[in-house]
Order: sequence, then C-alpha cells, then structure tokens
Amino acid sequence: MLVLGVETSCDETAVGIVEDRLTLRSNVVASQAELHAPFGGVVPEVAARAHLDLMLPTVDQALVQAGVGLSDVDAIAVTAGPGLVGALLVGVSAAKGLALAHDLPLLGVNHLRAHVEAVQLEHGLLEPPLLALVVSGGHTSIVAMDEHGTFRQLGATIDDAAGEAFDKIARFIGLGYPGGPEIDRLAQGGNPKAFAFPRAMAAEGYDFSLSGLKTAVIRELRRMEAAGEEPDLADVAASFQEAIVDVQVLKTLKAAGAEGIDTVVLAGGVAANRRLRARMEAECEANGQRLLVPSIPLCTDNGAMVAASGSNLLADGITARLDLAVDPNLALAE
Ligand code: KG4
Ligand code: ZN
Repeated sequence: MLVLGVETSCDETAVGIVEDRLTLRSNVVASQAELHAPFGGVVPEVAARAHLDLMLPTVDQALVQAGVGLSDVDAIAVTAGPGLVGALLVGVSAAKGLALAHDLPLLGVNHLRAHVEAVQLEHGLLEPPLLALVVSGGHTSIVAMDEHGTFRQLGATIDDAAGEAFDKIARFIGLGYPGGPEIDRLAQGGNPKAFAFPRAMAAEGYDFSLSGLKTAVIRELRRMEAAGEEPDLADVAASFQEAIVDVQVLKTLKAAGAEGIDTVVLAGGVAANRRLRARMEAECEANGQRLLVPSIPLCTDNGAMVAASGSNLLADGITARLDLAVDPNLALAE
C-alpha cells in the first residue's frame, strides 16, 4: 500500500510517499525559508501563496523520487491541523482534488501526531505505552501515548513554544531565520555555563514557561551593551540553549519515571537540535529508558511523516470525507 502525504501547515511545502506504513519511498521538501527570511518570521499570506505555486511540482517530484505514478498510490493523506489556516487550506484542497480525481481515500492527519509517528519510518511501529516530548515552532508538550493514536497531555508551555523562543532570540542577536538551526550552530563553539539564565518552572510539574528566559537573555544583552561590554554570542547561544534543554530533559524524564514508561520519543522541529538530542540520549541511557528520535530531515516538517501517520489511519479504517475541514487549533490529546 502506498500513501502519499501532503504537508502545508506552515512554511514548508512537503510531499512524501510511504509504503506499507514503514518504508520511506520519497520525501521532498520545498522550503520557503528564503521567502520569509527578510521578515524574520513566517508571513501567513506569503506562505499560502507560495504553497499554491509549489504544491503540484512538489507532488510530481515526490512521485518521480519514489519511481511511481499517481495510479500506483492507494491513499492521499494531508495535514488538517494545527497550523496556519490559509496554508493548511492549500494542502487540504490539493489533497481533496487528488483523492477525487483518482478515486482514492482521503486521510486527515494531525500534524503533531505525525511528528511523533515519523519515528516508525526508522524504528518500526510505535509500541505503547510511550512518552513523547513534542517540540516545534508552534508547540511544546509532554504527552503519553497509552494506546495507538491516543494521547494524554501531561504538560505544555504556558507561553512561548520552544522553537518560537529559539527563533526570537536568534532574531534578537542578528541571526537568520529560522533561528533554531542558527543557534544550534553558533552554540557549538560556546560555553553553556557562561551565563546563568533562568530555568523557569523546573521544579513545578510538567508545564513549561519560556518567555522569562527570553526576557532574561535580552535584558543581559542590553545591560552589557549599556556597560560597553562585548558579548560572546556563541556563549550567549550555548547558555540560552542549555537553559531550554535542561528543563526539557528534566521534565521528560521525570514524567517518564512517574508514569512508569520506559520508551521516550523526541519529536518536532526542535528535536533536530544537536544538544537536545545528545543530552536526551545520555539521560535516557543513564535512566534505562529507550529513546526514539527521528533523523534530522524527519524531525522538521516533512510529507513522509504525514504519509506515515495517514498509513496508520488507513490501517485503522479511519478515512476522511471530502468535506474534511482544516482546524488551525487541532489538539494532540483528546
Ligand atoms: O516542526 P517544525 O519544522 O515546524 C512546526 O511545526 O512549527 O519546527 C520548526 C521549528 C522552528 O522554530 C525552528 O527554529 C526549530 O524548529 N528548529 C530548531 C532546530 N531546527 C529547527 N531549533 C533548535 N535547533 C535546531 N537544530
Ligand atoms: Zn511541525
């Protein structure tokens, strides 16, 4: 069974093809990063218009890369939410058109669930119970998956998402967009202990708060500027990143321990962060937990994760109707 997955929730026009739930046949991402870079963030109208231009060529490329035609595809999966409404609408409309024209089932995918299920393309079908830290540009949460496809939220950010914090600090210190990979790179040469930035809510439950950290970084840089001190930006990036990573690793492992769950999934765009991956790997190993984390191209937004998640829906017989609506606020947990 071949499932073609369409992803347009934010600024990547992406199409992937997955065979029999587990095998990646193609994964094509047409990034709009250059279009949004001059604005320092995603401009929703620009994203929607670019998705329109890039959609069909990206579908074609994914088919070519997989060496198949549309007549070989068995179902069309598409991200129905969460995301930017205009951007989602382009993907969902295109998927409906493909499903209707080729008489194929349509599968409405939750973007956050797809981030988690991307793991199956490299590590086999997920076996519940497991605990997932889902960290992206618009989302930060700790969830438990007790059964296939059913998520229970244990904690979430009360203000900024992790990726949003990376992007904002990157912009403040003059790095490009998206900022996460830039901070990751700059932090490589920095000292994570150079600045003692706050670890907000580290001792309290499983929720996160990142706006205080962001303010603390900005305040420190302004103080140094006023004092005529030149900040070492690599140290700033490394110390800021460490403050985020510390709290995320601590809370994820605490939640896994309290729930008695020994499989941890790290998912979403921020899961591409090298320091987060390394620290989570080390801590999970020390605690006897199994860590599952997708390779970097499967962490950031992509169509293959949508195809994988759609394949699971198809296996469960959960198809969408042609009036499938987009839901910009679609939640992961019920
Ligand atoms: O999942 P994703 O591709 O899109 C959303 O669903 O939001 O996540 C994008 C976010 C951006 O904020 C980006 O800066 C961040 O993930 N990101 C990273 C890294 N790569 C991407 N953050 C930190 N380190 C990275 N290496
Ligand atoms: Zn995402």
